[in-house]
Amino acid sequence: MAKGSLALLISGGVDNWAPDLWKSRFAEKLKDRDIALLPADNVDPDQVHYAAVWQPKPGLLRAFSNLKAIFNLGAGVDAVLQDSSLPDVPLVRVADDDLTSRMTEYVVMHVLMHHRQQAYLANCQSKRIWAPRPQWPARAVRVGVLGLGVLGRDAARALYNLGFPVAGWSKSRKSIDGVECYAGDGQLGAFLARTDILVVLLPLTQETRGMLARPLFRQLATDGPLGGPVVINAGRGGLQNEEDILACLEDGTLKAATLDVFQREPLPSDSPLWSHPAVTISPHNAADSDPDSIASYVAAQILDFEAGRPLQNVVDRRRGY
Ligand code: NAP
Ligand code: GLV
Repeated sequence: MAKGSLALLISGGVDNWAPDLWKSRFAEKLKDRDIALLPADNVDPDQVHYAAVWQPKPGLLRAFSNLKAIFNLGAGVDAVLQDSSLPDVPLVRVADDDLTSRMTEYVVMHVLMHHRQQAYLANCQSKRIWAPRPQWPARAVRVGVLGLGVLGRDAARALYNLGFPVAGWSKSRKSIDGVECYAGDGQLGAFLARTDILVVLLPLTQETRGMLARPLFRQLATDGPLGGPVVINAGRGGLQNEEDILACLEDGTLKAATLDVFQREPLPSDSPLWSHPAVTISPHNAADSDPDSIASYVAAQILDFEAGRPLQNVVDRRRGY
């Protein structure tokens, strides 16, 4: 039997998601397959056994009646799950060391920026002012990680290793060395009440949509050394209420926000978030999917699957992640 083709459906519009780049990486890793970049390439839909996708246009996957698995080329599957006609085959997401390390770098960098008062120091430099403020130790800053999955766990461990008191919150209870673990809605309040810097690494689901809003921010600790709570969101923009973030920064409920993800992406140029002095913005690149690493990850899964081994990191569509 001929080996199943792989159809690539990629949107995204930024360099890292250049479709030709991904096609060339998949062609290297799966030399004996046809790799079809859709919608540009011609392909016999019946020969397509696998699809690798990033934010595919809804409805496009319906054409493939012999599909055996869909590989989402990132960790979060909220975009692909919006397609109500998504074929009923296993949906696999990325859980990969390369991506995880990138996210941990991002989280550690931004926690340290707040902890080490970098915005204040940069402002001093721009005015040629030599005015160090007292600096507290890492052990004085309580970091809380919302979401203790593949990414949250790794970031929490790295922060713990730097000396921060770290807690995490997830749906089901976890046990992570050095990390105080909270679980479920009933323990969210206690988790927030001991948190100075809130790091958000949750998936976007029906349950988590919009939860980063005033009622949650109001529960964060206010007695930490930073002068108010800080939120760092690298999960999804749909988790956050941007009007509330701005209002909470204005009235002191929040001290600062670092945002990698937004309700609308790209963030519109007229968004007041761009110029707010207490907001740090990055363009949804906290943890890019590296074409080389991720194509290797997908190729290995296809070969394992064809050898009769189970697919890894299959999404539970009912819970949405
Ligand atoms: P994951 O392994 O699926 O972990 C998700 C975590 O969130 C789990 O600990 C889960 O709890 C928890 N969770 C989900 N719903 C919850 C709820 N209602 N209440 C409490 N906890 C809940 O996902 P991951 O690989 O760590 O990735 C997390 C997210 O990061 C992705 O979904 C994506 O949106 C985002 N991301 C962003 C970027 C970027 O560049 N900005 C890059 C990659 C990923 P359980 O463990 O109990 O299930
Ligand atoms: C990126 O946002 C991802 O979900 O991998």
